[in-house]
Amino acid sequence: MTFKGYADPDYGAVLSPDDLPKKWYNIVPDLPEPLAPMLDSHTLKPVGPKQFERLFPKELVRQQFSKERWFDIPQEVWEAYRTLPRPTPLVRARRLEKFLGTPAKIFYKAEQFSPVGSMKPNTALAQAYYAKKQGLELAVSETGAGQWGSALAMSCARFQLKARIYMVRVSAQQKPGRKILMETYGAEVLESPSENTETGRKLLAENPNHPGSLGIAISEAIEDTLAQQEARYLLASAFNYALAHQTIMGLEAQKQFELMDLVPDMMCGCIGGGSNYSGFIYPFVREKLRGRIETEFVACEPTAVPSTTRGRFTYDYADAAEHTPLVKMYSIGHSTPNPPIHAGGLRFHGKAPSLSLLIHLGVVKSVAFPQTKVFEAAKMFAQTEGVIPAPESAHGLRYAIDEAIRCRKTGEKKVIAFNNCGHGLLDLSAYDEYNKGKLVDWEPPEIQLFEYLRK
Ligand SMILES: Cc1ncc(COP(=O)(O)O)c(C=O)c1O
Repeated sequence: MTFKGYADPDYGAVLSPDDLPKKWYNIVPDLPEPLAPMLDSHTLKPVGPKQFERLFPKELVRQQFSKERWFDIPQEVWEAYRTLPRPTPLVRARRLEKFLGTPAKIFYKAEQFSPVGSMKPNTALAQAYYAKKQGLELAVSETGAGQWGSALAMSCARFQLKARIYMVRVSAQQKPGRKILMETYGAEVLESPSENTETGRKLLAENPNHPGSLGIAISEAIEDTLAQQEARYLLASAFNYALAHQTIMGLEAQKQFELMDLVPDMMCGCIGGGSNYSGFIYPFVREKLRGRIETEFVACEPTAVPSTTRGRFTYDYADAAEHTPLVKMYSIGHSTPNPPIHAGGLRFHGKAPSLSLLIHLGVVKSVAFPQTKVFEAAKMFAQTEGVIPAPESAHGLRYAIDEAIRCRKTGEKKVIAFNNCGHGLLDLSAYDEYNKGKLVDWEPPEIQLFEYLRK
């Protein structure tokens, strides 16, 4: 063991700042099968890096298509991580264990400590940095729950880049605090669907009260980016580079478990596009694929957006208006409506291609929960550990609790780890609904699969 830090299996582990990793891990070369290429939706031919450079900063395009296992973290980004601060602690939830009466040990990665309250700055800082370095002026993006938007707004402020963010209308109404946060960092926030794009205007003409979705907001952000030469689109999740940047969490967690002389038996977390969960587990997945550990991996999604539990592993668009290439992933179809659950960050029809492949191959398992079960877990966590989790994070927490209860029955002393990828302090209206018994479970949507998928 060559790193410093403090570990006590009764409480968890913290690392010294010197142990903050200097590289991100890219799982692409280690996947059991190559990733299917993205396809041009007209020609059905693979799309290459050149076609992406008008939309994304060049370095991110390079990383997206790279088969290198490690990417150097630029010094400026590493320093920005230090001030978040990173490394984040790996905490043992002993009071929760006691409450559940389980012999299992439950650990969580405490990503709620970042200034915006989630893990999103892990990639937002990197993306804003690369955009600025390329001499660009404006970052355009979308946000669901507002966690990504806040992280991007903060990161753009840090690297002096303008930011314009399309926020899913239903989330903007559920979480006005997030919009204020983004504006405080200096970003321009437009509720999506908006009057600013062709896509938005068309949808508003059909339904002036359209609730929006992540797929629609992505379409608006892409359309807007393509209309401005000095703008690029910064994407929260799903793409290989966003997942790689998030591995900072898993790389830290590996050192933290090693310091405690433990190996997690099971790691769970929530999946929206798949970035936080992939970032948490991929360094461990690498070890599992090399036959060095036997950890079980469980991805958790809402029953209202059941991409991996009821969707198909096939080609689909990543956005609602069909601007993107076709991507091979788990999807419930890009035109399937997403019920307005409170975990706005999980309202996305598709999932990251690499994570989808791992689920398809059975390396990662997936499960789904209705939101009342999720909030029940979240409240248990709040009352035992004192932490109010984001509704997204609480999906992973739900599975961790269920597994700990199973251990109570079997007597197994499993080591369980979940990613507490954000706090819910700007989601209190959702907690209020739950506390008052008003929270409802949405029926799973009727899945509308894209024509191409039926061929
Ligand atoms: C706190 C939080 N967790 C999870 C997610 C889901 O995204 P991903 O699956 O890419 O981590 C979001 C998305 O906005 C989020 O805000």
